[in-house]
Amino acid sequence: MAVVSTSLAGAVTSQLNQFSGLRKSFLKLDASSANSNQSFFLNVDSHIRLASSGKACRSVVAMAGSGKFFVGGNWKCHLVSCFLISPCILKQYTQNGTKESISKLVSDLNIATLESDVDVVVSPPFVYIDQVKNSLTDRIDVAAQNCWIGKGGAFTGEISVEQLKDIGCKWVVLGHSERRHVIGEDDQFIGKKAAYALSQGVGVIACIGELLEEREAGKTFDVCFQQLKAYAGNDYQLSILWCADAVSSWDNIVIAYEPVWAIGTGKVASPEQAQEVHAAVRDWLSKNVSADVASKTRIIYGGSVNGANSAELAKKEDIDGFLVGGASLKGPEFATIINSVTAKKVAA
Ligand code: PGA
Repeated sequence: MAVVSTSLAGAVTSQLNQFSGLRKSFLKLDASSANSNQSFFLNVDSHIRLASSGKACRSVVAMAGSGKFFVGGNWKCHLVSCFLISPCILKQYTQNGTKESISKLVSDLNIATLESDVDVVVSPPFVYIDQVKNSLTDRIDVAAQNCWIGKGGAFTGEISVEQLKDIGCKWVVLGHSERRHVIGEDDQFIGKKAAYALSQGVGVIACIGELLEEREAGKTFDVCFQQLKAYAGNDYQLSILWCADAVSSWDNIVIAYEPVWAIGTGKVASPEQAQEVHAAVRDWLSKNVSADVASKTRIIYGGSVNGANSAELAKKEDIDGFLVGGASLKGPEFATIINSVTAKKVAA
């Protein structure tokens, strides 16, 4: 997707440096690949393609994935945001998650100019989905922020996938860190939800991501791969026991890598940090699911994305879009993030 002007030698060097610092066993794997030119080039083939086979190696298309850019807005459950003016005075500067504020956000999105080659989805709180569906342009799809693990029934307080479909939701966000670490959902529960939603034709924005202490302990890849396994549920003897319902098709899944330390904190991952994990996730998909799934699956980044940092992140070849929280509550800024797809189209 991204076209960058670079030399193949530079691309090779960057591939060699790609998996640094997160997990030693992964490094070993790639270092051994690099020992053989042939296996190394097989290894990088899915990441680096020649822009024109007839020309010398002056420019390459750094196109790790073949899927369309994807940007989701996660509106969460915000009601009133405040900032502190003095220890005694809280000033309200915005109100999100009321009928009135959602109406304003929707009208801002309806008049925004959005690049055509981007899939755009917003996920309002359940109680406002109908309002949004009835007022938002068809250009933008609607997602739910959660769903029940199976067919609807006597499950007080839950919302079934069937009900989401009934009100026109095409997507559901699952495995978000706030559901994992605040509500206490585990991998098995999340995997079941994903499998059921997909079986009913609802797309899944499947979130993964490590805590700060896990990153500092060098466990980022281990955590992300473990969470991926719960969605994949294949190729793992153990998964037959703990994730029997896992997905059979990846056609309708978007993976959102959201490092927990970056969510809502203003501490965005650097483009290099995000790229490093995205490339590892794509590599994991290739080895554990298929090369085809690795190529087609959108791997989007989430965690303090805003209108000022999205373009730099979008330039990275394995970043196929974003899942945006706070900045998706401001229509013009969310439009800027959506339109950062243009940063991927750098002339060769
Ligand atoms: P943030 O949230 O953009 O506010 O960090 C991202 C998310 O939770 O999906």
